[in-house]
Amino acid sequence: MYRLAENFTIAEFTFPFPPRVDMALNPPLNRKLRMGLVGGGPGSLIGPVHGIAAEFEHRCTMVAGAFSSNPERSRQAAPSYGVDESRTYGSYEALLDGESRLPEGERIDFLSIATPNHTHFEIAKAAVEAGFNVVCDKPLTLDLAEAEALLETVENSDVVFALTHNYTGYPMIRQAREMIQAGEFGKINATRCQYIQGWLADTSEDDNGTLAAWRTDPAKSGAAGTFGDIATHAFQLGRYVTGALPESVSCHLKTFVPGRQLDDYGTAVIRYQEGALGIVTASQVTHGRENDLELEVDGTLGSLKWRQESPNELVVRRKGQPHQIYTRSPGTGTMTPLAEASSRLPAGHPEGFYEAFANLYNAVFDDIARRASGSPFERRDTVYPNVYDGVEGMMFIEQCVASSESDAAWMPLSYPAARQ
Ligand code: NAI
Repeated sequence: MYRLAENFTIAEFTFPFPPRVDMALNPPLNRKLRMGLVGGGPGSLIGPVHGIAAEFEHRCTMVAGAFSSNPERSRQAAPSYGVDESRTYGSYEALLDGESRLPEGERIDFLSIATPNHTHFEIAKAAVEAGFNVVCDKPLTLDLAEAEALLETVENSDVVFALTHNYTGYPMIRQAREMIQAGEFGKINATRCQYIQGWLADTSEDDNGTLAAWRTDPAKSGAAGTFGDIATHAFQLGRYVTGALPESVSCHLKTFVPGRQLDDYGTAVIRYQEGALGIVTASQVTHGRENDLELEVDGTLGSLKWRQESPNELVVRRKGQPHQIYTRSPGTGTMTPLAEASSRLPAGHPEGFYEAFANLYNAVFDDIARRASGSPFERRDTVYPNVYDGVEGMMFIEQCVASSESDAAWMPLSYPAARQ
């Protein structure tokens, strides 16, 4: 029933459904990839997720890590990742040095970065300059200047560079994107993206280990708190699904918890170049709310709604028709090609956060295999978010902060190298 959208060619993506054992061998390389991880030390949040998601399809094995900037804590973490002592490093510098000295057939193929924001730039830049492919967590860097410098480094290299805005890996998000690209909703009039959490309403900066502490410290988080941490996910999701190019932004940021240095709530209004209007709202202080990332899109022919807390459903309302709920149901002819290719289990078995994260890694591995075998690969309009999306995300953060400081004045938000 569905045809693949124009700029996602089938050749660009390996189909995991039905599961294929040869994916583990990353054709034409015919071997598993070797992963290195920076971050993911004891008690950390997203590093272990990177480890699981990357190995989800058995296409790679983690062989090296600098899991903490404290060598002892790095060593403590290594056994749970199955990483040998000889390749457990006390710093990212030691990791890059040690891995670069190994024969090509042994050293890591890519480095995943799961450390706090202020460290992304130096680690990613050094890894790219050493010739390693990079999977970096968001936001790309601490500020826009760093992001632009990193983009230049990536453009001067031939590495694969991905950014883990992992929600773009959900099959029903990819379905929404392909349906919009196919014109099923007509011209896009409006987007409403919100990411609502509550954990920072109840948690002070001091009582939750590093998780809350660095996120509320401008020197480690960047110019924004909640807006850098999760509004960037919501903004990027709207961009990815609609392809609409922003023109300008007006934003109000608020800090509701007394004594906090950075915003914990905010709303941005975005004017898009083709006339659409968007809203991004993010909160980390809404009692009882968990990870309520929600996307709504209105078009001239219909509208859609998706929530990450029920990620296997996409609600579609077409002009003059009863409401429809599309489900993640491969093999039924109701899924678009990339959405179907991003599914593993038959309908009704819930797929979630890990699978979506793994879908990002899958597409990255396809490009790493291409690079290693000398084949060309796309760098900007990739299936997965990349360094260009990262620069656009940093521009979004900086302009939201600037707007909020100027009583919500309109600020330009047009990034010439943005994906379509
Ligand atoms: P965390 O504080 O839980 O963990 C950070 C880890 O990095 C710790 O183990 C720490 O010891 C280690 N670390 C810090 N500096 C280091 C260095 N120089 N070298 C080696 N290790 C170092 O932080 P969390 O929540 O895991 O966040 C990490 C990054 O991932 C942040 O940039 C955050 O924005 C992003 N993130 C992304 C998510 C997503 O859904 N994509 C979800 C959560 C976080």
